[in-house]
Amino acid sequence: MGGAGVAMLPRDVFGGLQAGLIARSARPVDFETPVELLDSFITPTDAFFVRGHMTAPAVDAPAWRLIVDGEGGESRTLSVADLRALPAVSVTATLECAGNGRAFFDPPVAGIQWRKGAVGTSRWTGARLRDVVAAAGTSNGATHVWMYGGDRPLGTQPPFVRQVPWAKAIDADTIVAYEMDGQPIPLLHGAPLRAIIPGWEGAYSVKWLQRLTVASKEHDGFWVAGAYRYPKSRVMPGATVAAGDQAALMGLAVKSLITRPFERAVVMPGPVEIAGFAWAGESRIARVDVSIDGGASWTAARLTGPLHKYAWRRFEHRAMLRAAGVVTILSRATTDRGEAQPIVPRWNPAGYLWNAPDRIDVTVGGTSTPPAPAASHDTTSTDVTFERACRVCHDDDLAAQQRLTREGWGREVDKMIRWGARVTPEERSPLVEFLASRWGVR
Ligand code: MTE
Repeated sequence: MGGAGVAMLPRDVFGGLQAGLIARSARPVDFETPVELLDSFITPTDAFFVRGHMTAPAVDAPAWRLIVDGEGGESRTLSVADLRALPAVSVTATLECAGNGRAFFDPPVAGIQWRKGAVGTSRWTGARLRDVVAAAGTSNGATHVWMYGGDRPLGTQPPFVRQVPWAKAIDADTIVAYEMDGQPIPLLHGAPLRAIIPGWEGAYSVKWLQRLTVASKEHDGFWVAGAYRYPKSRVMPGATVAAGDQAALMGLAVKSLITRPFERAVVMPGPVEIAGFAWAGESRIARVDVSIDGGASWTAARLTGPLHKYAWRRFEHRAMLRAAGVVTILSRATTDRGEAQPIVPRWNPAGYLWNAPDRIDVTVGGTSTPPAPAASHDTTSTDVTFERACRVCHDDDLAAQQRLTREGWGREVDKMIRWGARVTPEERSPLVEFLASRWGVR
């Protein structure tokens, strides 16, 4: 499976992140947590995945202001100190990017090729969003709250504005957070204020929150009307689906992750502790089954550890691994509503909600070695258009991981042109050709 474009993070380059995170993109800053660092119930803040579409703003926390407004209501401007003066609430929640696992979809889809680690759990502390908007007294006829991020768009990329339906916005567990695991939120995680919409895709939890608008209609910007949408009905893999035939994602899918033993570990014959986490957004995990024979038979694991409504649940299982050679271990979670992880997740054009049973290979007895990961691509380029149009905002890592066909590259280039990439009509085809020949798949 592709190691293409993957680099390990050098220490201290992106303040506050620990070495060993997987750099999926340097511009925008997108880092994945290696599974080995996901074995604790609370993910260490310096190992927590980072997903941003744009450039983080410069933040001076004491000077940061959150505007709260709405139709016909007052407009209020709140400081972080004003939010800290409201009743404080802590919510332990698992945050997962909708695109976590995108790398496993076939046919491939455009976007950051996350594998397993765009997920993590933290204890978020802040004020209830409903208390914050009440401060502006604007809730008559409200259907949504629009949330504005303060990050700086790349090119003419639309600003990051998301919406949350009113009922979820005023839920007691929906907060405007100022702390992550007991400390002020670090810059890359949205300092000084971010929304936490627990149980829903990470994209709802808007970072660098600078405005909340209580609205009586849907926001019509790109990040609501054109992104984070999922086909209303099943589509053929590889199909193009109009935005109108898709609906907004509103909740994470049931999923599990094996954090112990590590992928490709060599273990001695005998008892082996298999452990990990399972989560399902707003649903409760009822069981996790584990297989040590590639899915031929399954055994229920023990559910252990802390129980929080919106956080992942620990599972543990002791298995006897006797036969020497490569053993495939799988985990499969089921919710209290009976939804189990599907063997083949539904393909969708944006590659969201990958939730097949997790799978790792280990070697028992050290007698054979699982296949090595694919070597990374050579990513040097001198192409002038590429330099001007693409590299101005991105590094090669982003292109190298895409696995797109020629047509897919064409659609990506057209989107980037809409977002301000400087490509003349004459340059478009050669650029698509360049990208497809360098990083395309057939
Ligand atoms: N908020 C802003 N302002 N800009 C963004 O690009 N990305 C969203 C969300 N909030 C984003 C944002 C997405 S897609 C995810 S998955 C989460 O932030 C990731 O949060 P993290 O970086 O703290 O892990």
